[in-house]
Amino acid sequence: MKKSGIKKKREAKVKIKTSKAINQAKVLERKILERSATIAIIGMGYVGLPLAIEFGCVGFKVIGIDINPEKIKTINAGKSDVDDIKDYQVRELTDLRRLKCTDDFSVLKSIDCVAIAVPTPLNKTKDPDVSSILSAVNEIKKYIHPGQLIILESTTYPGTTEELIKPMLEQGNLRVGRDIFLAFSPERVDPGNTRYKTHNTPKVVGGTTSNCLKVARTIYEQITNLSDSYRFIPVRGWEDIASRSILIICHGNYDL
Ligand SMILES: NC(=O)c1ccc[n+]([C@@H]2O[C@H](COP(=O)([O-])OP(=O)(O)OC[C@H]3O[C@@H](n4cnc5c(N)ncnc54)[C@H](O)[C@@H]3O)[C@@H](O)[C@H]2O)c1
Repeated sequence: MKKSGIKKKREAKVKIKTSKAINQAKVLERKILERSATIAIIGMGYVGLPLAIEFGCVGFKVIGIDINPEKIKTINAGKSDVDDIKDYQVRELTDLRRLKCTDDFSVLKSIDCVAIAVPTPLNKTKDPDVSSILSAVNEIKKYIHPGQLIILESTTYPGTTEELIKPMLEQGNLRVGRDIFLAFSPERVDPGNTRYKTHNTPKVVGGTTSNCLKVARTIYEQITNLSDSYRFIPVRGWEDIASRSILIICHGNYDL
């Protein structure tokens, strides 16, 4: 049976959108591999600072964004207020101008990858309070641009990324998976643990689309030096991430 003109046009449009998404993803992946991608971490606490140090140590330029002026002063003075990170680790990167901290969200204009690591304390009903996430995303959406990757690292309930963050980022013309990329990779830092740090802890990464997953995985692969017995565990759907505790202990030969 012959295809109708409308059907053909629709298929051509889908093809264009798909190739746009692939191109944006390829450009970002190349920038990540060449270390020319810039990274911002929103929330420079127990999770954000160690993450910033890992990215800085492998050659990325990292900007920390925080609302606490004391925190900004401490980091820019080459010091750490996080137990697991020593002053010299911060100083090495600030001296190299590979790490700086600011409260100015407009830096996001020129950032390729943004990780959100703001607090999500439990409220009275024992649900995570996502107000800091929403406030961070409200800032991100002012400066969002094609090719940007946004990753949520804060601990939260399944659905936060898909139901809260995605619609906020798509309020303009940009679409997740086509123009911008969105992923969830819950932080698994264990403060005080001397054996397991960010680089040797298995990481669970979920992407809204396959391209989102691809670029998010690429960025984490740069800082995750896992031995053969540990694996990257890509997760496709947000619901799957709810079972992350099961996935994480299943390290070894785990293919999805
Ligand atoms: N610390 C842990 O052991 C641990 C482990 C796993 C997961 N997590 C999760 O990681 C997330 C971050 O936790 P943390 O321990 O790093 O918190 P933290 O309190 O140590 O640091 C959070 C930082 O975010 C800043 N901040 C708050 N609101 C902000 C905003 N709107 N914009 C910019 N900066 C903002 C704060 O000033 C602070 O410096 C939480 O969701 C937490 O549940 C923490």
